[in-house]
Amino acid sequence: MLVASNRGPVSYEVGEDGALSSKRGGGGLVSGLSAIGPDTDAVWVCAALGDGDREAVARAGGGLLPEADTGGQRVRMLDIDAATHADAYNGIANSVLWFVHHMLYQTPLEPVFDAEFRRKWAAYEAYNRAFAEALAEEAAEGAAVLIQDYHLALAPRMLRRLRPDLRIGHFSHTPWAPPEYFRLLPDDIAAELLTGILGADRAAFLTRRWADAFTACCHAVLGPGIPSGTRVGVHGLGADADFLRERAHRADVDERMVALREEIGAGRRTVVRVDRTELSKNIVRGLLAYRHLLAERPEWREKVVHVAFAYPSRQDLAVYRDYTAEVQRVADEINSAFGTPGWTPVVLHVKDDFARSLAAYRLADVALVNPIRDGMNLVAKEVPVVSDEGCVLVLSREAGAYEELSEDAVPVNPYDIVGTADALHAALGVPPEERAERTKRLAAAATALPPARWFLDQLEELRG
Ligand code: F6P
Repeated sequence: MLVASNRGPVSYEVGEDGALSSKRGGGGLVSGLSAIGPDTDAVWVCAALGDGDREAVARAGGGLLPEADTGGQRVRMLDIDAATHADAYNGIANSVLWFVHHMLYQTPLEPVFDAEFRRKWAAYEAYNRAFAEALAEEAAEGAAVLIQDYHLALAPRMLRRLRPDLRIGHFSHTPWAPPEYFRLLPDDIAAELLTGILGADRAAFLTRRWADAFTACCHAVLGPGIPSGTRVGVHGLGADADFLRERAHRADVDERMVALREEIGAGRRTVVRVDRTELSKNIVRGLLAYRHLLAERPEWREKVVHVAFAYPSRQDLAVYRDYTAEVQRVADEINSAFGTPGWTPVVLHVKDDFARSLAAYRLADVALVNPIRDGMNLVAKEVPVVSDEGCVLVLSREAGAYEELSEDAVPVNPYDIVGTADALHAALGVPPEERAERTKRLAAAATALPPARWFLDQLEELRG
């Protein structure tokens, strides 16, 4: 069995003394795969992302990385030419495909599909080819290969041509754009992306909505019917309750709770959000809604704090750097407009700290999860699992998680600032018993398909 993804389960850094240090990656895919245990032949193929990774690949002679670094996982990292990787990853995957599936373009001026785009597209093809060739080389006869995400949309078809004997699955962790938006892409590119994924035996998605959008794009771009007979499936990744509950009660999390309570101030309510500073997460509109709440409902002043953790993401892209600055600017503006000597209305932290995120999950009165569009959004699923006393979830109807959590969440249209402020007001007013009951039901729905099961289900379906 093989897994392929751009970002792998381990990353390396070169220290000042030239020594390499490794860090194990987090996330659902890593924990899902670690649960495969007995299938010791599984190999994870990923890309080298920085100088440390490239050095590690060189030291491993291009073969498998030392198992001491990977927690026993067999990992092959591909040292794809750095410029090619940058054009494929930043130029196409993050700046075009991510924008299309999350519908992020400001269309009067973008996208522009010019010669420069075509040059980057050639790099995206080369990057996908490098993965297909490595997978073809690693895979035993009839092996199952699980290819992840929009970075690798072309690889299934390329691999199918090299190795018709393999069982190939593709999984999209993002939303899928509706046809009218997907067709912003040039026709040949749109067709190449779809036929690339259709090279797989199964194309899987996080929700029915994204799976249906993919099928609708196939009909719109390629003609009626799914030409290759590829099966389309849905696997709604859930939160890992055992891991989260254990991790959330370690001493470092308790320490962070004490520090956070100090920053918040005694007796105040909290509206918590935890995100990567990702354009689709809608952090700025969340802040604007909170500002509207304070402006229009002065009874909340001094009584509530918006705890916003906005961790760095994709800082190679100018638009992400600008967005990060805007988050900081709006938070500062709210604090200077409304803050008092004893009350800081917005507590913003930008340095990634998992223990502090868990501390915030535990003490949150309200969790604000308002993405413009999101494949799933695991924060919406994690908060109810670790909440100490129950938390009201204000949830965008455009998050994949909405499909499973809508009944016990307070829904919002992510563009509607006034509506979001009203939702925050309503959520802050939910009585404790109702809050606890709702949280219990949310936690049950959020953990229905834990990562290991999510992964094994895909494998079983593929091996059929
Ligand atoms: O969160 C959705 C997702 O598509 C993941 O599947 C993927 O690992 C990640 O985003 C990519 O983020 P990055 O560019 O930081 O690797």
